[in-house]
Amino acid sequence: MTSSSSLPVLSHDDRLAGRTAIVTGSSSGIGEAIAHVLAASGAHVVVHGRSAERADRVAAAIAERGGRASVVIGDLAESPAAARAFAERATDVVGGRVDILVNNAGIFPTGPTADLPDEDVTALLATNIRVPHDLVGALAPAMAERGVGVIVNITSWMANVGTPGVALYPATKAALDHLTIAWAAEYGPSGVRVNAVAPGATLTPGNADAVAILDAMTAGAPAGKPGRPVDIAFAVRYLASDEAAYVHGATIDVDGGIVAARV
Ligand SMILES: NC(=O)c1ccc[n+]([C@@H]2O[C@H](COP(=O)([O-])OP(=O)(O)OC[C@H]3O[C@@H](n4cnc5c(N)ncnc54)[C@H](OP(=O)(O)O)[C@@H]3O)[C@@H](O)[C@H]2O)c1
Repeated sequence: MTSSSSLPVLSHDDRLAGRTAIVTGSSSGIGEAIAHVLAASGAHVVVHGRSAERADRVAAAIAERGGRASVVIGDLAESPAAARAFAERATDVVGGRVDILVNNAGIFPTGPTADLPDEDVTALLATNIRVPHDLVGALAPAMAERGVGVIVNITSWMANVGTPGVALYPATKAALDHLTIAWAAEYGPSGVRVNAVAPGATLTPGNADAVAILDAMTAGAPAGKPGRPVDIAFAVRYLASDEAAYVHGATIDVDGGIVAARV
């Protein structure tokens, strides 16, 4: 399982010093690694998830490593009002100004189209599309008013390929890819940079029961193995930093080459 103890030792720097960041779904997996990496570069990070226990554990691990983290819990898929209330609480917790929003929380139930339960369809659309839309609607206007801000969406390599038995999840990520370029066009002229990172098959608690599938899936790709959450986090940190000042509406593939070399 991905845990703070399985993260590599992170070197600390000040490229995000004085900035605040919300990372949705950072109580686990890829989001957890993103929270650690942003905090290691000096950001005050809001650690978020549905489970207070998991989020508290991540925030404590960040503090142990010398970083700054606050916990805000909430089921974002519950309703648009719940997502907006979360945005408000998270903004308050970091002192009234959010510099970086990482839309990472996501779910990935799969199965043949005809058999996908209605509840999974509803949850996929809400968690993977509506929630990022709600949060950007709640947070981007204030960023635009200040003339500065960064939004990073976590999409997926699967949005670029057709896979039997996995139709709707990749479609939600393709929608998020589109929202990325649409928001770059909408908010970029006001100083808000919107970009995405598309992870490849990455070992996390969310797919811990499918390690053999991930191994088989990645065996023929250039990297030849599944990715680590921290590989995704380093790309997010780049996009969040001033080093990416001229990058708008881009998706960085951090997928071990699985899409590029797919036959
Ligand atoms: N792992 C991969 O191979 C892979 C590949 C491509 C893209 N991705 C994308 O990367 C992101 C993270 O995936 P992961 O593998 O790290 O997943 P994970 O280990 O299952 O973690 C998911 C996180 O999202 C949170 N979350 C889920 N639904 C939520 C909701 N309704 N409200 C609030 N929080 C919610 C979870 O909170 P709790 O802990 O409280 O449940 C958890 O913190 C997802 O968007 C996924 O689609 C993953």
